[in-house]
Parts: sequence; structure tokens; C-alpha cells
Amino acid sequence: MSNPAPIAVALDAPNLGALQDWAGLVAPWVSTLKVGLEVFCRDGDLSVSGARAAASSAGVKGIEIFLDLKLHDIPATVAGAARAVAHLEPAILTVHAAGGAAMVEAAALALPNTRIAAVTVLTSLDEQALAAIGMIGPSIDAAVRLAVLATNAGARAVVCSPREVAAIRAAVSPEITLITPGVRPPGSSVDDQKRVATPAQAMADGSDLLVIGRPITAAADVARAAQEIALSIVDVS
Ligand code: C5P
Repeated sequence: MSNPAPIAVALDAPNLGALQDWAGLVAPWVSTLKVGLEVFCRDGDLSVSGARAAASSAGVKGIEIFLDLKLHDIPATVAGAARAVAHLEPAILTVHAAGGAAMVEAAALALPNTRIAAVTVLTSLDEQALAAIGMIGPSIDAAVRLAVLATNAGARAVVCSPREVAAIRAAVSPEITLITPGVRPPGSSVDDQKRVATPAQAMADGSDLLVIGRPITAAADVARAAQEIALSIVDVS
């Protein structure tokens, strides 16, 4: 396949060895490797350099790294944290949109060569949980509001549920990259994800990058699972 599919594989691995094995197996098929909070807190820079090295050993140069740290603090601290990972050259770094416009702007200014992706509403929060933290009203309204706020403040990407992607696509500039976790191929286990969509549906609704973890990394044949999902997207695009 000449162009890798717009998929970020969530490398939520139990150890660095597994992370590198998965990275090497999926790299030929996908555009992006996602290093999350758990792995980064445990393995630090090695989680990123190890993923890149494994992709390179598999013959894939220049795979993008999505550093999913979901930063949320005062603007100066978030800017400092963003600068602290600049040497890793992530293509994408996540921050929480709920940190406010000044915080998102501080991250964007600190890392101008990285696409700052604003997380809107965590898909683990239902409307009752949102009301309990003072976010009254439908979660889709909060997601659209936070997406507009964050992109106006300099975020170049938004992380949202596949259920919200069409509404956010309509509300932000076409240049904004929309990233959707909670994606499951037809017939696949939903695991702990509550509101899922198939890869084809998420793409049709305006997603630019699908975050997919366990349907690939928990498969008996990791490379084949990545290949099949990648080809299913290429077929519909
Ligand atoms: O294994 P699975 O496909 O459910 O992995 C989804 C990935 O996306 C995980 O790394 C998870 O942390 C991340 N994520 C999510 N929901 C969000 C934001 C990120 O599931 N709202």
C-alpha cells in the first residue's frame, strides 16, 4: 500500500518490548503511532524512541508520533511541559480543551511545529457525570463549544467521540484535524468503549484520523488486523 491509512494505533502496551513489537508490526499499514500517558509515565522518552526505532527497523521511515498526554494545568505549566517534550518531535500532542483558551494557546505557542490536539469531552463521562462536574446540557453541545474554543485558541486538531464528529466538523475550519477514538470494526468487541462507530462510519462523518487500540493490538495476528482495517478504510475513501 503506497499511502498508509489515517489510523493512530494506541500502543497501550504492558511493557516496552511489547510496545516495540506492536510498533514494528503495524507500521507498514498506518500513518501514526500513539504513545499514551501510561506508557510514557513508565518508559519516558524510550516509549517514543523505541516506537520510532521499531517502525524504522520494519522499513518505515518518518512515521508520525501522537503523544497523548492530555495536559491540563495553568498555562505556564502546560507550556513548560510542552517544551519538555519538544525534543521528541511529536506530530500531535493532546491537551484538555477544558483547561481554557489561554492554556491551549500557551501549548500551541510552545510547540509551533506540533499539532496541538484539544480533547473535548472524555468519552468515559456520561451526561450524569458531566452534570456532577457542573457541565449541564447535552454532551454534544459541550463538545462543540470546547472544540470551537480550542481551535480559536490555536489548537490544530480536536479529539472527539465518533458520535460528535459530524457536529464538530460543521463547526470548525476544514483545516482542523478531527481525531476519533472509540472506533471498532464491524463485529469486533467494544471492550470498555461506550459509544463506538465503525472505521467507515467515522470517516464518512468527517474524521481525519482514527485512534484504534485493542482491535489491533489484542488480535492474534497484529499485523494482519492492522492491514485489514487499513484496507477497509482505503476501500471506502
Ligand atoms: O483499545 P482502544 O481502541 O479502546 O483504545 C483507544 C485509545 O484511545 C486509548 O489509548 C485511550 O486512552 C484513547 N482515548 C479514548 N477516548 C478518549 C480519548 C482517548 O479511548 N476520549
